[in-house]
Amino acid sequence: MKHILFLASFLLALGAHAQNLAVRHLSDTHTMVRVSGNDRYVLLPVQETAPSARVRVLSDGVEVLSANVSLAVEKTDYQVPLDLGAWSGRDILLDIRTNRGRGVQRNPSGDVCWKEMTTAPVFDRTNREKAYRPFYHFTPEYGWMNDPNGLVYQDGEWHLFYQYNPYGSLWGNMHWGHAVSRDLVNWEHLGIAIAPDALGSIFSGSAVVDKENTAGFGRDAIVAMYTSAGDNQTQSIAYSNDGGRTFAKYPGNPVIVAENKPDFRDPKVFWDDQTRQWKVVLAAGQEVQFYSSDNLKDWKYESSFGQGYGSHDGVWECPDLIRLPFEGKDKWVLLLNINPGGPFGGSATQYFVGSFDGKTFQCDDLPTVTRWMDYGKDHYATVTWSNAPQGRSVALAWMSNWQYANSVPTQQFRSSNSVPRDLSLIRKGKEVILKSMPSPEVEALRGRPVRYKLSTAPVKLFENPHCAYELVVRLTLPKKKSAAFALSNELGEQVVFTCDPETQTFSMDRRGSGNVQFSEAFVSVTTAPAQVGGKMELRLLVDSASIEAFGEDFCMTNLVFPSSPYNTLKLYGNLKADVTLYPIAK
Ligand code: FRU
Repeated sequence: MKHILFLASFLLALGAHAQNLAVRHLSDTHTMVRVSGNDRYVLLPVQETAPSARVRVLSDGVEVLSANVSLAVEKTDYQVPLDLGAWSGRDILLDIRTNRGRGVQRNPSGDVCWKEMTTAPVFDRTNREKAYRPFYHFTPEYGWMNDPNGLVYQDGEWHLFYQYNPYGSLWGNMHWGHAVSRDLVNWEHLGIAIAPDALGSIFSGSAVVDKENTAGFGRDAIVAMYTSAGDNQTQSIAYSNDGGRTFAKYPGNPVIVAENKPDFRDPKVFWDDQTRQWKVVLAAGQEVQFYSSDNLKDWKYESSFGQGYGSHDGVWECPDLIRLPFEGKDKWVLLLNINPGGPFGGSATQYFVGSFDGKTFQCDDLPTVTRWMDYGKDHYATVTWSNAPQGRSVALAWMSNWQYANSVPTQQFRSSNSVPRDLSLIRKGKEVILKSMPSPEVEALRGRPVRYKLSTAPVKLFENPHCAYELVVRLTLPKKKSAAFALSNELGEQVVFTCDPETQTFSMDRRGSGNVQFSEAFVSVTTAPAQVGGKMELRLLVDSASIEAFGEDFCMTNLVFPSSPYNTLKLYGNLKADVTLYPIAK
């Protein structure tokens, strides 16, 4: 046994080199680490509950990178890589301040981070989240993710940038991470696209293809606009001439500033055919603002929308303005994310239907009307792809909620996105509502269908635990009585779906769904207005840690953390159902 342990630690040491690090404690709050050798990475030990330390990387005496890292005090939860590849062969010194919240009078020399910090030629990205790593929803390989950013399509590639912390699986150090897909379901990870600079960290934003080189960065350059989050929030641009693989920041940044607006962010750029100009819609406190430009660099304020309209129970964030056909004409839909203030607490996406003349947005509804795009608790920061083929409006949401996003039970990564969804406008009675459906590309994931006819007896969907599948449920409801069905596992953990013809609602109850203890706000029942009665068709997209429900006139996205996958379907009440099960195996 001793020999095996010795061999294991010897093999570990082969890959990771602690001897390349010389640690010197200069004071109770200040440590320097001299890095030698040729390894590309310094692996920083993280303890999520430890207060964050400021790590500055100095190369030849100049600061080239800095990050806040929760350096481990008592134990290491995981390591994060500090990638020094860009400065290989140069002198590297880590200048670390540990005073941030650690108490000024403590000696840091006993903290485990100094003993467990190593250098290594590679960083192991193998999945360690066996239970809750989704099969077909996008997650970063490691680290923290929130909002989708810079969604843009070019030359067969769907680009997904995202709010990213590469130095821990909690929010902070905002970068843009990057991935691309040719089919909207399989993603190639491309690492960091845009890193913080002296103007601030890189908050949410968007990207466009500058087909006519209006900015002078090159024909077909991808131009990204993001919020520089420094002492104030301003808008900056960066461009790429190699299909988003590398970005250069515009030297004239920032390009849009405001006075006395602490919340001034999340620019969404789009091309407006009516005025043949670029437009930006961004969130500014309790309203959105529109700007125009001919060259993506010089912007003119046009108008604001929102005061008194819809929900204002939180901060307005991540707007998007899209044009959708409706009954032979076009309408404009303003997507607007709000946090808190969602219908079930915390984060949610509202929308406004109206018109846009290139300068101002007019809402068709009365100011008192609030419309929600999705009636779950885990649908936020929703924005659409720019330049999508065939004029499609394809949206993506971050599948979490600021109430508990930092405490969901995963560690190697947090969190995931929804499936991509195609948007359209439909009529519901006298109203025009926004409909989201899984993009057709998602159907390519379907395995061989299995059909069930259900009445009272529960059906075992899988003998072996299998967590990724789609159910198409065709319900025949009893007259005037509410009916329910549930997905459960052998531990009795379950998610209950109820269709109520009296209140005309569909609801999802995840109170007994498995691990719900990490946050009181997670324990919830979400309810959507829905046409319920007679026959009803639902699509349920189930993955290891989420359920997305789609009906004719609603959708509902909720996270779940069962101890083992839900493999049984049971009906309650006098319900009958034809169910098609599509296993999803990627
Ligand atoms: C929304 C948001 C944005 C901001 C980003 C920061 O979730 O708060 O408004 O740009 O996250 O990560």
